[in-house]
Amino acid sequence: MKKTLYMAPILGVTGSSYRNAYSRFFEGYDCAVLPFIKSSKGRRSTLNDILPERNNARFKLIPQVLDKDPEYFIPVAKAIFDLGYDTLNWNLGCPLPMVRNKGRGSGMLPLLEEITAFLDKVLSKIPNRLSIKVRLGSTDNKALAKLLPRLNNFPLEEIIIHPRTGKQMYKGEVDLDAFQEALSLTKHTIVYSGDIDSVKTLKTLSKRFPRVNRWMIGRSGITDPFLPEEIRHITHYTDREKLDRFLSFHAAVFAGYQKELSGPAHLIGKMKEVWRYWADAFEGGNRLFFKITRTKTVKTYLLTVSDFFATHPNLNI
Ligand SMILES: Cc1cc2nc3c(=O)[nH]c(=O)nc-3n(C[C@H](O)[C@H](O)[C@H](O)COP(=O)(O)O)c2cc1C
Repeated sequence: MKKTLYMAPILGVTGSSYRNAYSRFFEGYDCAVLPFIKSSKGRRSTLNDILPERNNARFKLIPQVLDKDPEYFIPVAKAIFDLGYDTLNWNLGCPLPMVRNKGRGSGMLPLLEEITAFLDKVLSKIPNRLSIKVRLGSTDNKALAKLLPRLNNFPLEEIIIHPRTGKQMYKGEVDLDAFQEALSLTKHTIVYSGDIDSVKTLKTLSKRFPRVNRWMIGRSGITDPFLPEEIRHITHYTDREKLDRFLSFHAAVFAGYQKELSGPAHLIGKMKEVWRYWADAFEGGNRLFFKITRTKTVKTYLLTVSDFFATHPNLNI
């Protein structure tokens, strides 16, 4: 059966400008879960990044909301549905200490009663289909195993599991034994997310978890935008063709941010976020990244990047 490939939400990178540009130059993803929108008290949620007029990616988009309070979650979910998105993802995985310590994101995972009460209230009141993105737990890897049996009777679209704890952030190994245990505890369709960095890694995971057919690619899909095409066996390119495509992709991401943001500091700041990942795609990429971090003007930024590409750098991807 054909695998379903998801672009992972990476806050600060996979916003509309990045997604639109990506979809112009690359294929392979079936859908993208979008970086989280907060719906909490005292904040007016901004739906700017998901406005239909700003989004023309050729894959399905699944917005994501981070909150623990149905009162704030429900109206945002409805507003998102009215913008044309039939599926919504609830973030129960965010590891950021300021989120986790307030019992939101992965910090909510041990709070079984709160989660089931939230779903009881929310599911009957929102028109969207709901999926959930989780980790193994907040500080230890036990919470998800307790939660999953409780979720079996809720009509969820799917559950996306990143098998690390919140405390781990993005470091250390993914815990594949805990993921295996999680699979045995749920009736829901599962999406795997974590450290898929090559065709080989995905093959190994697919072999170990034959029940899983939906795979989410995050950081490595930014470093290597060709990875989904390689997984799909779409084609093989020469390094020269890859470089040219990377250059065009860079120009499109830059143009998108230029339109979206005001002022050189914002624009260069956003490009730096992407180069944090792209640097690993090139020999000498770290030196380039260092130069970019010191860049203050758009002119210098563009010169630095075009000089780098003019040297025909070797690709690491
Ligand atoms: C900088 C950064 C921002 C992220 N933002 C989000 C987010 O907004 N929502 C979410 O559910 N996960 C977020 N994640 C987690 C990723 O979606 C993914 O689950 C995780 O990075 C593991 O996959 P990977 O190893 O393929 O990157 C973020 C990860 C990183 C590194």
